Amino acid sequence: MTAEKIAIACDHGGVNLKKALIDELKSKGFDVLDLGCDRGDSVDYPDYGYKLAQAIKDETIKRGVVICGSGIGISIAVNRYTEVRCALVHDTLGAKLSREHNNANVIAFGERTTGVATAIDALNAFLTTEFEGGRHERRVEKLTNPPL
Ligand code: RB5
Repeated sequence: MTAEKIAIACDHGGVNLKKALIDELKSKGFDVLDLGCDRGDSVDYPDYGYKLAQAIKDETIKRGVVICGSGIGISIAVNRYTEVRCALVHDTLGAKLSREHNNANVIAFGERTTGVATAIDALNAFLTTEFEGGRHERRVEKLTNPPL
């Protein structure tokens, strides 16, 4: 079976956590598409969030991980795409619920707000938890079709 390709992107505030999460993803057998950024030089989180969101939109990947200092800016950026349902999480329960109830396809972390061990646990919950469907199906469908 071919490994699932999963993308990860961050701004300068998320480089260290990105490295740790890439190691975790590789250890679990994922084919990791690292969309940057790679160093600590100041960059703009929308640029990296949009790269990942575009990869979801064009179906290069089905799931992704984004990181910035707080997780807030980059999660807002990726959620500008209707194909993306990104959950900014701070714990394992949030990650699990984001899958069960929201069918989240991207998880966001803040390197300044969430420790590495917690982020790894939450990431694994995100990757292994199924969407419950049922009553949540209708609500998630409404997210795809906002009354703009
Ligand atoms: C960058 O300094 C910081 O603003 C960014 O990483 C993020 O926290 C924005 O939401």
